[in-house]
This record gives sequence, structure tokens and C-alpha cells, in this order.
Amino acid sequence: MEVDLSKITLRPFKLEDADDFLLFAGDDQVTNYLRWQTLSSKQEALDHIKDVCIPHPWRRSICIDNCSIGFISIFPFSGEEHRFKANIGYGVAVKYWGHGIATKALKMAVPQFFADFPDVVRLEAFIDAQNLGSQRVVEKTGFQKEGLLRKYAYMKGNLRDMFIYSFLSTDLPANP
Ligand SMILES: CC(C)(COP(=O)(O)OP(=O)(O)OC[C@H]1O[C@@H](n2cnc3c(N)ncnc32)[C@H](O)[C@@H]1OP(=O)(O)O)[C@@H](O)C(=O)NCCC(=O)NCCS
Repeated sequence: MEVDLSKITLRPFKLEDADDFLLFAGDDQVTNYLRWQTLSSKQEALDHIKDVCIPHPWRRSICIDNCSIGFISIFPFSGEEHRFKANIGYGVAVKYWGHGIATKALKMAVPQFFADFPDVVRLEAFIDAQNLGSQRVVEKTGFQKEGLLRKYAYMKGNLRDMFIYSFLSTDLPANP
């Protein structure tokens, strides 16, 4: 399968995405390294879009021809001491892996997010030490690896070692 990366777009989720959303959010291979549980029905997909995706401060559907094939979430923290930071997560439907889609989508999302949230200066990614693909995605997007957090996250019944990466607003190119 050839993928034309110029066709990748990002947009907010809509209830009409439920069937496409279930294709990746209902797949254990995609949710394995995510905090949420694998969805198992169209109703769960609809509820998740309505209750989580739509109210989320910055969650975008990764689309080809307006069809949802993945997601990017960037969650800005709140409160005086934390509102300069945000946390990123993402996933792509398995049949689209290995075509550069996540890298392209992150390269689009990061400048958009900093423009939408000018108070945020630091974007953080916490990536499972075994999730080599995701580490490669953030490295290709320009994130810096800051270190290994041992037994840092409790996910799906296990304590996981996580790498922490960051991208600062000052890391954006001056004239993109
Ligand atoms: C991680 C994920 C988003 C990557 O999506 P993708 O569209 O396949 O990524 P890309 O095609 O942009 O790949 C970027 C790089 O990672 C490499 N890569 C991708 N998957 C890999 C894997 N399993 N092992 C090693 N390298 C991998 C690619 O080869 C590419 O590097 P290259 O250009 O040097 O060859 C996708 O595998 C996924 O959805 N995983 C499940 C959810 C997840 O782990 N999310 C991240 C949570 S922090």
C-alpha cells in the first residue's frame, strides 16, 4: 500500500468517526502501550468520542481523505505551577503502520498545538522502553530524550520503564 503523506490532515473527532475509530481503538496492538482499555463495540466508540475525544482540550483525528486512521492527544496541564507543560499521546491503525504517518502527523500537530496554547513551553512524551517505534517517531519529530524513568508507569497490570522526551516551544524552527 502506498500512502501519499500530503493527504494527511488533522481535525477534531466527530460522532460519524465511530466505525473508523473502532478499527484502531478496538485493536489490542494499538492500545497495548496506551492507558485506555481496548474498545469492543460501536457504542463504546460513540461514547468514547462523545465523552473523551470531543471535550478533550486538544485531541485530533489523523485522517486520510477525511477518514479517521488514528489520533493525537496533547493534554495541557492546568494550575499556576503546571500550565507551561503538556503531555502527548498518539496511535495509528495497524494497517497504516510503517508509512511515516505518525511522524508526519506529529510534525503537523506540534506547531499547531503551540500556536493554540501560547502559555505552554514544554511538551512531554512518556514512552515505554520497549516501544521502539514510538521512540523513533518522537526522535524524528525533534523531541529530545531526557532519560529513563525506571518502573515509572503502571500500565495493563505491569510496572513499566519509560523514557521521557521533551520538545520545547523554542525548538520550533523560527520560519517554518
Ligand atoms: C508508534 C506508532 C504510532 C508508529 O506509527 P507509524 O505511522 O507506523 O510510524 P512511522 O511510520 O512514522 O515510523 C517512524 C519510524 O519508526 C520506525 N518504527 C515504526 N514502528 C517500529 C517498530 N515496531 N520497531 C522499530 N521501529 C519502528 C519506522 O521504521 C520509522 O523509522 P525510519 O523512518 O527510520 O524507518 C504506531 O506503531 C502505533 O500506533 N503504535 C501503537 C500505539 C502507540 O504505541 N502509541 C504511542 C504511545 S507513547
